[in-house]
Amino acid sequence: MSTKHTSWAEPYKIKMVEPLFMTTRAQREKAMEEAGYNTFLLKSEDVYIDLLTDSGTSAMSDRQWAGLMLGDEAYAGSRNFYHLEEAIQRYYGYKYVIPTHQGRGAENIISQVLIKPGDVVPGNMYFTTTKVHQELAGGTFADIIVDEAHDPRSTFPFKGNVDLGKLQAVINTYGAKSIPYVSIATTVNMAGGQPISLANLRALREFTTKHGIRVIHDMTRVAENAYMIKLLEEGNADRSVAEIVKEICSLTDGATMSAKKDALVNIGGFLATNEWDVYEEARNLVVIYEGLHTYGGLAGRDMEAMAIGIGESVDDDHIRARVGQVFYLGNKLIDAGIPVVLPIGTFGVFLDAKAFLPHVPQDHFPAQALASEIYLDSGVRTMERGIVSAGRDKKTGDHCYPELELVRLTIPRRVYTQAHMDVIAESVQRVFEHRDRIVGLNLTYEPKYLRFFQARFEKLISA
Ligand code: F0G
Repeated sequence: MSTKHTSWAEPYKIKMVEPLFMTTRAQREKAMEEAGYNTFLLKSEDVYIDLLTDSGTSAMSDRQWAGLMLGDEAYAGSRNFYHLEEAIQRYYGYKYVIPTHQGRGAENIISQVLIKPGDVVPGNMYFTTTKVHQELAGGTFADIIVDEAHDPRSTFPFKGNVDLGKLQAVINTYGAKSIPYVSIATTVNMAGGQPISLANLRALREFTTKHGIRVIHDMTRVAENAYMIKLLEEGNADRSVAEIVKEICSLTDGATMSAKKDALVNIGGFLATNEWDVYEEARNLVVIYEGLHTYGGLAGRDMEAMAIGIGESVDDDHIRARVGQVFYLGNKLIDAGIPVVLPIGTFGVFLDAKAFLPHVPQDHFPAQALASEIYLDSGVRTMERGIVSAGRDKKTGDHCYPELELVRLTIPRRVYTQAHMDVIAESVQRVFEHRDRIVGLNLTYEPKYLRFFQARFEKLISA
């Protein structure tokens, strides 16, 4: 049965609520100035609807909360670790598992285990923390995503796909021996939450096997990617999301996971691999950076909630409502004529700040400025995904100038209702109506790594 043309509804009812508070425009102006025009530096108490991220912001189920009470807080060999290991083997199919405090903990370890100085790591677009760890281990990231991913107006359905021609070119230049692995994200965050197709992954698997190169899977939003395959890729409509997730994982050699997204927990992650040698080396490193290999920086109760969340995350009804809510907001904005990245991604709606504010040059940080305007209008907190997030060129020290200059409206899982989506859309529309009056920003403080988290700005005086 096709699921395309019937309405979705949340497959749960609400048992507990958390009040939200509105602020006045004057309060928001003060808060934004104190935060240096960086939405990451706002206090959450000053935020009305929080679309900063879908990371660690999900609502857990009653079962997950019950699972917290079953935490076995032994230092070593906690029963919850074995539940987590079982869930990962069952739903994802990877053999060896190491918990980490969150995704970047796993990225650090896999980068240190596999990358040597001078190596090149091709991937379907960079992700901020992933790239930093690759660089800290001595590697360089090479973008091999299809060109469509860099064009916010292209409606190509699988913008997360790899261009095998680009991968071949990297091999021709550096040699397969300098490529420890290809890094594949499901779905691609920086492209706007865009999926990779099964056909592309299968072709990549065949190609990399031929060249003796691993595929390491950033599986942070794998269930959402699987749902897009079910919706859009021929031959998959009647398969379950769980089945597609398992096939995606089977086409890769190992994975890093930020369980704070798909897996519906507020903290947690893991590293998984099918290779004993990689596991052994990672197990040596995890005790330095995270904790013993059976807890990796997590409490036993956190591992239990993650094990339960993994099962819930691959449920067809859950994922249909989750992505359906994102599409609802996206379609409302499209109908209002707001420039957004097409197609709508799985975990948020991305405003095209270059098209929204064509009068603000990229080095005046249009997406950063737009995020602060939306907050000033309504207290809705969004985030920049553009020149600030892209950081500086390792060699020249100049800003990287990404094609995509975006503001991300990220939807937490199971947290907000359709009425919230309406309020958000109305706020973006109001800001769009007075877009000519919006001015750019000036960078006043810049941290060395991942500058978007802590950078500070001031408003440029309008001409
Ligand atoms: N990979 C992807 C695709 C991510 O989206 C994130 C986090 C990570 C890795 C790192 O995981 O935060 O658990 O250490 N993304 C968050 C976001 C921060 O808001 O997009 P982490």
